[in-house]
Amino acid sequence: MNRITLKDRDFTIFITAADIEKAVTAMAQQINRDLEGKNPIFLIILSGAFVFAADLLRKVKLDCDVTFVRLSSYSGTQSTEKIRELLGMNEVLKDRTVIIVEDIIDTGHTMDDMIHKIRNLEAREVKIATLLLKPAALRKDLKIHYVGIEIPNDFIVGYGLDYDGFGRNLPDIYKVVPEE
Ligand code: IMP
Ligand code: MG
Repeated sequence: MNRITLKDRDFTIFITAADIEKAVTAMAQQINRDLEGKNPIFLIILSGAFVFAADLLRKVKLDCDVTFVRLSSYSGTQSTEKIRELLGMNEVLKDRTVIIVEDIIDTGHTMDDMIHKIRNLEAREVKIATLLLKPAALRKDLKIHYVGIEIPNDFIVGYGLDYDGFGRNLPDIYKVVPEE
Protein backbone atom coordinates (compact mmCIF):
# COMPACT_ATOMS: atom_id res chain seq x y z
CA MET A 1 0.00 0.00 0.00
CA ASN A 2 1.48 3.33 -1.05
CA ARG A 3 -0.81 5.61 0.92
CA ILE A 4 -2.18 4.99 4.40
CA THR A 5 -4.10 6.87 7.07
CA LEU A 6 -3.11 6.72 10.74
CA LYS A 7 -5.36 8.46 13.25
CA ASP A 8 -6.00 11.82 11.55
CA ARG A 9 -3.07 12.04 9.09
CA ASP A 10 -2.14 10.57 5.71
CA PHE A 11 1.25 9.02 5.00
CA THR A 12 2.98 7.85 1.80
CA ILE A 13 5.57 5.13 1.35
CA PHE A 14 9.09 6.45 1.86
CA ILE A 15 11.61 3.66 2.60
CA THR A 16 10.74 0.07 1.72
CA ALA A 17 11.45 -2.91 3.96
CA ALA A 18 14.02 -4.09 1.40
CA ASP A 19 15.96 -0.83 1.58
CA ILE A 20 15.81 -0.84 5.38
CA GLU A 21 17.21 -4.36 5.37
CA LYS A 22 20.16 -3.28 3.22
CA ALA A 23 20.99 -0.43 5.58
CA VAL A 24 20.70 -2.67 8.65
CA THR A 25 22.92 -5.34 7.10
CA ALA A 26 25.60 -2.79 6.17
CA MET A 27 25.57 -1.37 9.70
CA ALA A 28 25.84 -4.81 11.32
CA GLN A 29 28.80 -5.68 9.11
CA GLN A 30 30.56 -2.47 10.08
CA ILE A 31 29.91 -3.07 13.79
CA ASN A 32 31.18 -6.65 13.46
CA ARG A 33 34.41 -5.37 11.90
CA ASP A 34 34.94 -2.41 14.26
CA LEU A 35 34.25 -4.24 17.50
CA GLU A 36 35.80 -7.61 16.74
CA GLY A 37 37.17 -9.20 19.92
CA LYS A 38 35.23 -6.81 22.17
CA ASN A 39 32.32 -7.68 24.41
CA PRO A 40 30.00 -4.68 23.96
CA ILE A 41 26.67 -4.04 25.58
CA PHE A 42 23.88 -2.82 23.31
CA LEU A 43 21.56 -0.34 24.99
CA ILE A 44 18.27 -0.29 23.13
CA ILE A 45 16.19 2.86 23.42
CA LEU A 46 12.55 1.88 23.70
CA SER A 47 10.03 2.05 22.39
CA GLY A 48 10.91 3.13 18.84
CA ALA A 49 14.12 1.12 18.39
CA PHE A 50 12.69 -2.30 19.21
CA VAL A 51 12.17 -3.40 15.58
CA PHE A 52 15.50 -2.06 14.35
CA ALA A 53 17.34 -3.56 17.33
CA ALA A 54 15.79 -6.98 16.75
CA ASP A 55 16.93 -6.98 13.11
CA LEU A 56 20.37 -5.46 13.82
CA LEU A 57 21.23 -7.72 16.75
CA ARG A 58 20.47 -10.87 14.79
CA LYS A 59 23.14 -9.80 12.30
CA VAL A 60 25.72 -8.93 14.95
CA LYS A 61 28.17 -11.78 15.46
CA LEU A 62 29.93 -10.42 18.56
CA ASP A 63 29.83 -11.81 22.05
CA CYS A 64 27.52 -9.14 23.50
CA ASP A 65 24.94 -8.18 26.10
CA VAL A 66 21.65 -6.40 25.45
CA THR A 67 19.77 -4.07 27.76
CA PHE A 68 16.95 -1.57 27.45
CA VAL A 69 16.00 1.92 28.51
CA ARG A 70 12.63 3.46 27.87
CA LEU A 71 12.47 7.13 26.98
CA SER A 72 9.82 9.40 25.62
CA SER A 73 10.23 12.87 24.14
CA TYR A 74 7.79 13.10 21.26
CA SER A 75 4.28 14.42 21.48
CA GLY A 76 2.28 14.17 18.24
CA THR A 77 4.60 15.06 15.36
CA GLN A 78 6.79 17.48 17.35
CA SER A 79 9.93 16.73 19.32
CA THR A 80 9.89 18.18 22.82
CA GLU A 81 12.95 18.97 24.88
CA LYS A 82 11.54 17.23 27.91
CA ILE A 83 12.78 13.66 27.94
CA ARG A 84 11.16 11.27 30.34
CA GLU A 85 12.92 8.11 31.47
CA LEU A 86 10.15 5.58 31.90
CA LEU A 87 12.26 2.50 32.48
CA GLY A 88 15.68 3.16 33.92
CA MET A 89 19.04 1.58 33.31
CA ASN A 90 19.93 -0.96 35.92
CA GLU A 91 22.72 -2.76 34.08
CA VAL A 92 26.31 -2.13 35.14
CA LEU A 93 27.94 -0.09 32.37
CA LYS A 94 31.20 0.68 34.18
CA ASP A 95 34.22 -0.01 31.93
CA ARG A 96 31.98 -1.39 29.16
CA THR A 97 31.82 -0.56 25.47
CA VAL A 98 28.25 0.68 25.15
CA ILE A 99 26.45 0.90 21.81
CA ILE A 100 23.30 2.94 22.02
CA VAL A 101 20.72 1.70 19.53
CA GLU A 102 18.19 4.33 18.47
CA ASP A 103 15.54 4.42 15.75
CA ILE A 104 16.04 8.05 14.75
CA ILE A 105 18.01 11.11 15.78
CA ASP A 106 16.03 14.27 15.17
CA THR A 107 17.04 17.29 17.30
CA GLY A 108 19.55 15.13 19.18
CA HIS A 109 18.23 16.06 22.62
CA THR A 110 17.36 12.48 23.54
CA MET A 111 20.77 11.19 22.50
CA ASP A 112 22.67 14.01 24.16
CA ASP A 113 20.85 13.27 27.39
CA MET A 114 21.60 9.54 27.10
CA ILE A 115 25.30 10.13 26.44
CA HIS A 116 25.63 12.21 29.60
CA LYS A 117 23.82 9.61 31.68
CA ILE A 118 26.04 6.82 30.38
CA ARG A 119 29.24 8.80 30.90
CA ASN A 120 28.16 9.24 34.53
CA LEU A 121 27.96 5.45 34.77
CA GLU A 122 31.65 5.34 33.78
CA ALA A 123 31.38 3.39 30.54
CA ARG A 124 34.74 2.90 28.81
CA GLU A 125 33.47 4.02 25.41
CA VAL A 126 30.08 4.97 24.07
CA LYS A 127 29.04 4.55 20.44
CA ILE A 128 25.82 5.59 18.78
CA ALA A 129 23.99 3.47 16.20
CA THR A 130 20.89 5.05 14.69
CA LEU A 131 18.84 3.70 11.82
CA LEU A 132 17.77 7.19 10.71
CA LEU A 133 19.19 10.68 11.04
CA LYS A 134 17.60 14.03 10.17
CA PRO A 135 20.77 16.15 9.70
CA ALA A 136 18.81 19.37 9.17
CA ALA A 137 17.05 19.00 12.53
CA LEU A 138 20.15 18.22 14.59
CA ARG A 139 20.79 20.80 17.32
CA LYS A 140 23.45 18.97 19.32
CA ASP A 141 27.12 18.36 18.60
CA LEU A 142 27.05 14.56 18.57
CA LYS A 143 29.54 12.06 17.20
CA ILE A 144 27.27 9.50 15.57
CA HIS A 145 29.28 6.39 14.69
CA TYR A 146 26.70 4.40 12.74
CA VAL A 147 23.92 5.89 10.61
CA GLY A 148 21.65 3.71 8.47
CA ILE A 149 19.90 6.30 6.29
CA GLU A 150 19.90 10.11 6.33
CA ILE A 151 16.47 11.61 5.71
CA PRO A 152 14.98 15.08 5.26
CA ASN A 153 13.08 16.85 7.98
CA ASP A 154 9.75 15.07 7.50
CA PHE A 155 7.79 13.23 10.14
CA ILE A 156 7.88 9.48 9.52
CA VAL A 157 6.27 6.31 10.88
CA GLY A 158 6.72 2.55 10.63
CA TYR A 159 9.41 -0.01 11.47
CA GLY A 160 9.07 0.81 15.17
CA LEU A 161 8.40 4.54 14.81
CA ASP A 162 4.96 5.79 15.76
CA TYR A 163 2.55 8.64 15.34
CA ASP A 164 0.85 8.94 18.73
CA GLY A 165 1.09 5.19 19.19
CA PHE A 166 0.08 4.22 15.66
CA GLY A 167 2.19 2.65 12.93
CA ARG A 168 4.96 0.91 14.86
CA ASN A 169 4.12 -2.46 13.31
CA LEU A 170 4.42 -1.34 9.68
CA PRO A 171 7.29 -3.16 7.89
CA ASP A 172 8.03 -0.14 5.65
CA ILE A 173 8.64 3.49 6.61
CA TYR A 174 6.11 6.15 5.59
CA LYS A 175 6.28 9.94 5.63
CA VAL A 176 3.52 12.33 6.55
CA VAL A 177 1.59 14.13 3.84
CA PRO A 178 1.69 17.86 4.69
CA GLU A 179 -1.60 19.37 5.81
CA GLU A 180 -3.26 21.64 3.24
P1 IMP B 1 15.20 13.97 19.36
O1 IMP B 1 15.39 14.02 20.85
O2 IMP B 1 14.56 15.21 18.84
O3 IMP B 1 16.47 13.64 18.60
O4 IMP B 1 14.13 12.87 19.04
C1 IMP B 1 14.41 11.55 19.12
C2 IMP B 1 13.18 10.71 19.41
O5 IMP B 1 11.99 11.29 18.89
C3 IMP B 1 13.35 9.40 18.72
O6 IMP B 1 13.80 8.45 19.65
C4 IMP B 1 11.99 9.06 18.19
O7 IMP B 1 11.35 8.19 19.08
C5 IMP B 1 11.26 10.36 18.11
N1 IMP B 1 11.17 10.84 16.71
C6 IMP B 1 11.99 11.74 16.10
N2 IMP B 1 11.63 11.96 14.84
C7 IMP B 1 10.55 11.15 14.61
C8 IMP B 1 9.72 10.92 13.46
O8 IMP B 1 9.89 11.48 12.35
N3 IMP B 1 8.72 10.00 13.63
C9 IMP B 1 8.50 9.36 14.82
N4 IMP B 1 9.25 9.56 15.91
C10 IMP B 1 10.26 10.44 15.82
MG1 MG C 1 12.93 6.74 20.14
